[in-house]
Amino acid sequence: VDVMAGIETYNELEIHRVMVEDRHRCNVYRKALSDGISPGDVVLDVGAGSGILSMFAARAGAKRVYAVEWATVARFARKLVRSNDPEGRIRIIHADVTRVTPRERVDLIVSEWLGGVGIDENYLRPLLVARDRWLKPNGRILPERVTTLMAPVWDGALHNELEFWRASPYGLDLRQIGARTTHEIFWTRNQLTTRALMAPAQPLWTIDLHRCSQRAATKGFDAERRFTITKGGRLSALGTWFAADFGRGLSLTNAPGAPENHWGPVSLPLNDTIRVERGTPVAVRLRCTPADPGFCRFRWSARVGGRKWEHHDTYQGYTF
Ligand SMILES: C[S@@+](CC[C@H](N)C(=O)[O-])C[C@H]1O[C@@H](n2cnc3c(N)ncnc32)[C@H](O)[C@@H]1O
Repeated sequence: VDVMAGIETYNELEIHRVMVEDRHRCNVYRKALSDGISPGDVVLDVGAGSGILSMFAARAGAKRVYAVEWATVARFARKLVRSNDPEGRIRIIHADVTRVTPRERVDLIVSEWLGGVGIDENYLRPLLVARDRWLKPNGRILPERVTTLMAPVWDGALHNELEFWRASPYGLDLRQIGARTTHEIFWTRNQLTTRALMAPAQPLWTIDLHRCSQRAATKGFDAERRFTITKGGRLSALGTWFAADFGRGLSLTNAPGAPENHWGPVSLPLNDTIRVERGTPVAVRLRCTPADPGFCRFRWSARVGGRKWEHHDTYQGYTF
């Protein structure tokens, strides 16, 4: 994995356009900020990107907003903010948030650090470092809690992709590409619907942003679950997604069936499509550890019915 991949993606306007155009995402954050900010509050926006959340915070009545962003998009955020913050409440700080000395303690930290599985973009630790340095003892963090969920699914698009590599396209043996593909995790490409679920989803872990330690964030997360198939059919992947809780009944999720958003559920492929019946047990384990900036390392194992365990590891998908 290219260690700079995380920063470089965010240097381009394209990803910021996608995020700002995601009305579901933006409106949940905007509501959370307008409900959560009292006049005179000081706010820190960790990973400010285009500055969108900082602008929401200023509109919601924040006295000062520190918008910290390490990618060069920070320069563009400065321009956007100039036309939306006439009173000059927002201060853009172009730096790695873990290297910034707090100018003052803040009442509220807001951050959109979420990948499709919640944790996957490795921004949790920097956020907690910022929390431990900047937040007042009774300060709040938005979102407050992030849960990762999983369910066994039928992902037709993924199935078709694997079949393509297995079918000797162009008369060539390209099965190795397919085999590597089963070690990758697939974001938005496949918009799983609720119909794709073959058993009720289960939560894997919940990250409480007020309580989670930097150590726990560095160590990563690990969960084992047993599912029982409730809808027989073809099983091809484990679907995962997050649910972010902002308190006061407000939440944001990329679950199947959620309002349209730029993440969509994520699929973790199985080696093969397996026919399963109602009542078939499916045991799974998902481990997720911070790796290089930009990506977590994911390892998942599954045992379907009486079959052997199968193991997947994103390192095998990325390293040649
Ligand atoms: C998912 S984007 C969200 C951007 C913006 N807040 C929004 O909601 O549209 C996360 C941002 O965090 C930035 N980021 C990640 N780690 C950071 C760090 N250690 N210091 C500063 N910015 C960071 C990334 O460059 C990226 O722009």
